[in-house]
Amino acid sequence: MDAVESAGSGGKFLNVGLLLVATIVAAKLISALIMPRSKKRLPPRVAAWPVLGGLVRFMKGPVVMLKEEYPKLGSVFTLNFLNKNITFLIGPEVSAHFFKAPESDLSQQEVYQFNVPTFGPGVVFDVDYTVRQEQFRFFTEALRVNKLKAYVDHMVVEAEEYFSKWGESGEVDLKYELEHLIILTASRCLLGEEVRNKLFDDVSALFHDLDSGMLPISVIFPYLPIPAHRRRDQARKKLSDIFAKIIASRKEAGTKANDLLQCFIDSKYKDGRPTSESEVTGLLIAALFAGQHTSSITSTWTGAYLLCNPKYMSTVLEEQKTIVQKHGNEVHYDVLAEMEVLYRCIKEALRLHPPLIMLLRSSHSDFTVKTKEGAEYDIPKGHIVATSPAFANRLPHIYKDPETYDPDRFAPGRDEDKAAGAFSYIAFGGGRHGCLGEPFAYLQIKTIWSHLLRNFEMELVSPFPEIDWNAMVVGVKGKVMVRYKRRALPLN
Ligand code: HEM
Ligand SMILES: *[C@@H]1O[C@H](CO)[C@@H](O)[C@H](O)[C@H]1NC(C)=O
Repeated sequence: MDAVESAGSGGKFLNVGLLLVATIVAAKLISALIMPRSKKRLPPRVAAWPVLGGLVRFMKGPVVMLKEEYPKLGSVFTLNFLNKNITFLIGPEVSAHFFKAPESDLSQQEVYQFNVPTFGPGVVFDVDYTVRQEQFRFFTEALRVNKLKAYVDHMVVEAEEYFSKWGESGEVDLKYELEHLIILTASRCLLGEEVRNKLFDDVSALFHDLDSGMLPISVIFPYLPIPAHRRRDQARKKLSDIFAKIIASRKEAGTKANDLLQCFIDSKYKDGRPTSESEVTGLLIAALFAGQHTSSITSTWTGAYLLCNPKYMSTVLEEQKTIVQKHGNEVHYDVLAEMEVLYRCIKEALRLHPPLIMLLRSSHSDFTVKTKEGAEYDIPKGHIVATSPAFANRLPHIYKDPETYDPDRFAPGRDEDKAAGAFSYIAFGGGRHGCLGEPFAYLQIKTIWSHLLRNFEMELVSPFPEIDWNAMVVGVKGKVMVRYKRRALPLN
């Protein structure tokens, strides 16, 4: 190889190199001209150490992290979490897309996948959105007003029976009591009388195993071979067998009961296919997971606040007196509907303590949000997006004295949850995936508290409860000791 040749080939490389640079520059210029928005205005990022830093920040408690970052970064910011970008959208001004977007833009399937081993195959987050949507329709139909009316009758019987076992006076852990009453009621209304009357102990033990198999670690590694997951899987199989027998015997006998089990047995997909036994079981488990802890936690907080706020205690008692004078002691759906003061007391307990503290979606398309200060951010597809009922329900520009228990903030005239527009109150989520069990939950909690208010005088003897942030469904830490005395509601 002589000197001339090698100089020539060097020149060729130089030319190719120049051409490449020129092309890149031209491409950049063109793209900047025709796509001026290709420069993304990304949300600010939470400062954290690389790789595990975000996880550490998150594990300290997601709400602690939000409390620290919101004042610094505003209502939209991104956290890097185990090599995923999680973008938080806090407050009604920036969360409309979160709640309203179609499944093709923001989906639940990926982020709620960890429920699959618990709910079982073929239901909810294990199936395509088209099937899931139909299964949510089964829920909607099973929780219609005419059905709810029948469930209320079960709720009333269960509450009367349960509290008839309390003495003339005594001391109880209210949290434990309400948890148990709600399991009994859920068994009756959701799982059916076969379970409630004959299989209650077996089935509650199995549900306990399912429950204990859903740990914070299960969110990231749902199939990790640990004893809790093994027990979960065994329990899921045994529940399957139990329900298969019940369903078969109902179908054979041709009986029609008033419960969710029956509704799911009778549900049909659009193509005419009936639900399978395994789908019915899975949907029932999903219903219990959605409704059980959430409702029992909310009843406990409602009680704790009423027992510490004599002003609101006396207004709910007045309301009960008025209703008893009008309807007597009987409680049914329409009577519960008149308990507006009690409703606001529950709603306010739930504002301060929503049991689902973090809602998630997986984003499949770019979108833009505008904050109330006017800043615009582009959130790239591929991010996980999150919002937090526990944090957003206490925003001071929406709720006056947000840390104070003040049920009247929802009274006509103040309507603080409506004044700032939709998605200001998100204890039940909202929009496309808003809770389907909200009316059921209120009916249940009102049934319990109207019974307690009418029949007992109560006093909180332990300190006001703290929040148990470590639970998957965030509730009350420790016992809630209450001293009670049986008494008839003194009518005026
Ligand atoms: C105080 C009690 C309850 C609270 C605080 C609550 C809260 C919520 C929240 C925040 C969501 C939205 C989740 C998301 O957007 O990712 C939700 C969805 C849901 N809830 Fe509830 N819930 C309660 C009781 C119930 C009950 C009793 C049932 C059934 C009997 C139920 C059934 C459902 C269902 C089926 C969904 C899914 C709706 C969908 O994705 O389209 N919930 N709930
Ligand atoms: C997270 O976002 C940053 C900045 O936009 C980006 O560089 C990074 O690739 C993203 N990480 C993942 C895992 O998507």
